[in-house]
Amino acid sequence: MAHYNWDQQLDTGIDSFDLHHQRIMEYANEIFNAVKFNDREKVGYTLDLLLEYTVSVFSYEDNLMDQSGYPYAAEHKAVHRTFTHKIARYRQRHQTGEDVSRQLLSELKVWITNHVRRDDRDYVPYVRKKFSTNWFSRFFGKKCA
Ligand SMILES: [Fe+2]
Repeated sequence: MAHYNWDQQLDTGIDSFDLHHQRIMEYANEIFNAVKFNDREKVGYTLDLLLEYTVSVFSYEDNLMDQSGYPYAAEHKAVHRTFTHKIARYRQRHQTGEDVSRQLLSELKVWITNHVRRDDRDYVPYVRKKFSTNWFSRFFGKKCA
């Protein structure tokens, strides 16, 4: 059962971004359920996947921000780095036997509601403007057509 649910306020207007963010929310839900069933192994496994995924997604977003000339790219990338370090630290603490579940879930909720809803939406117009070609529409989804 999903604890966190997607709503339209989280949509950025670019399908690929939304799919990435939805996947992060799915990881948050998987961690929530693993905690509920006291499955520490699953929490650790999902933390590994989440960390790997965020590194990959942020690399993609960072690259697009650079290419689109987004003026706050450096600040936004710093926020990505901080979040990745936090997740890595949660994973490390989990591996040493600490129960980080409450803090971790709270962190993920804040990330989804604040960063996705506010920060990521901020650079979408720059990305759309830079890549407003048919190629972009095909690659990033029909919403940009
Ligand atoms: Fe972001």
